[in-house]
Amino acid sequence: MKHLIQFTLKAIQSSSNGKHAAISGSRASYLVRCLSADASAAESEQSFKGHGMLAPFTAGWQTTDSNPLVIEKAEGSYVYDVNGKKYLDSLAGLWSTALGGNEPRLVAAATKQLNTLPFYHSFWNRTTKVSLDLAKELLETFTATKMAKAFFVNSGSEANDTQVKLVWYYNNALGRPNKKKFIARSKSYHGSTVVAASLSGRLVSGETEEDFATRLANNLENLILKEGPETIAAFIAEPVMGAGGVIPPPATYFDKTVRIYLHSYLAQVQAVLKKYDILFIADEGSYAISDDVSLERSIVERVQNIAPKFQDGLKAFADSPIIGEIRGTGLILGTEFTDNKSPNDLFPSEWGIGAYFGKQCEKNGMLVRVAGDNIMICPPLIISEDEIDELISKYGKALKATEERVQELKAQKK
Ligand SMILES: Cc1ncc(COP(=O)(O)O)c(C=O)c1O
Repeated sequence: MKHLIQFTLKAIQSSSNGKHAAISGSRASYLVRCLSADASAAESEQSFKGHGMLAPFTAGWQTTDSNPLVIEKAEGSYVYDVNGKKYLDSLAGLWSTALGGNEPRLVAAATKQLNTLPFYHSFWNRTTKVSLDLAKELLETFTATKMAKAFFVNSGSEANDTQVKLVWYYNNALGRPNKKKFIARSKSYHGSTVVAASLSGRLVSGETEEDFATRLANNLENLILKEGPETIAAFIAEPVMGAGGVIPPPATYFDKTVRIYLHSYLAQVQAVLKKYDILFIADEGSYAISDDVSLERSIVERVQNIAPKFQDGLKAFADSPIIGEIRGTGLILGTEFTDNKSPNDLFPSEWGIGAYFGKQCEKNGMLVRVAGDNIMICPPLIISEDEIDELISKYGKALKATEERVQELKAQKK
C-alpha cells in the first residue's frame, strides 16, 4: 500500500516536478514569456497562479508567475488536466506508474486496504500483516541475489537515505566508525532529500562513454586512494542514469538486461571495491515483477516485444540537425539537443531549446521530462503499439517545431 501512496504522491508532483527541472536565470525568463503567451491564449482555462504549494524542482517564481499544469485524472497511459485536455503520459508519472494511471486491480486493492486499516506503523516491533506478507513476497521474488530483509519507505529518496544509515550502522557495528564516505557518479540522481541529493553528482566530465568504460576502475581506485580506503563505505550507481539524461552504461559494460548488466558491471569494478572492502549500492538496479497484475499481463514479455518499435521509432529522428544524441534501452529514452552534432556545441541556454520542445509536446498532448536541453521519456510499461505510434508522431511534431525555432533564433542572431 505504501507503494500505491508513493505512486499517488508522484502523480500529484509530476506536473511540476518533471516539467521545469533545474531551470534558472535567463532560461527562466524565457519560460515565463513562453508560459504567459500560452496563458493568454487560453483565457477560458482555470488559473492556479499564486497557489499555496511549494514543490520539488519548482522555482518560487513559477508558482506566482505562471499557471501550473494541474493533472486531475488518469486513464491507462493517459492523464487529463483540469481543463479536460488529454496527454499521453510519456514519463509514467515520474518514472513510476508502470501499470498506467488507474489499473482497476490496484485501485481495488488500495480501496480494500483503506477500508480495513488505513494506517498503522512499524515502530517498536509492532507492524501490520500486509507489511509482513509483502516483505515475504519481495524476498521470494528477488532470486538473482538472495535478499535477507525488506525495508519499506515512501520514496526513492528515502530509500537512499536509508541505505546510507544502514551502511553507517553496519560499519559502526564492525568497529569502523571512520568508514562513512560514499562515492557517487557525476550526473547521477539519487533523490531530493538532503542525503540523497548530496549523493547526486552534477559534474560534466567531458569523458566519452568508451573512455569512461575503460578508465572507470582506475578512476575509482584513484579516488578511493586519495580519500583513504578506510573512510569509504560504499559506491552508489544507477544502472542506467535516468535524470542525468538517460545515459546507459558504456557499451563495453552493457549486456542484454539490466540484471545481467549489473553482474558484468560489478565484475568490472568489483575487484576495486572488494579490495578496499567497499559496498556496492545499485540504485533502482534490479526489478521484481511480483504482483498479480503484472504477471497476468505478462508485462516483461510485452516490454521486450514492444521496446524495439519504441527505440527504433524514436532513434529514427537522430539525424535531426538539432539532436546531438538519442540514447536509451527498453522503454527508456533520452534526447540531447546540441548544435552541429557535437556534444561541445550547446545551444545558448537562454534559447531554452529543451523547454521549447517540452512545451510543444504538451501542446500536442504529450508529457515528457525536460532537464536543460535533455529530454527524457519512459512511458508506462502497459503502453500499446498504437500509443507508441502516437508517441513517435507527437515527438516528431514537437521536434519539427523545435527545429524551426532554432532556425528562427539563429537567423535573429545574425
Ligand atoms: C535513480 C533514482 N534514485 C532515486 C530517485 C528518487 O526517488 P523519489 O522521487 O521517489 O524520491 C529517483 C527519482 O527519479 C531516481 O531516478
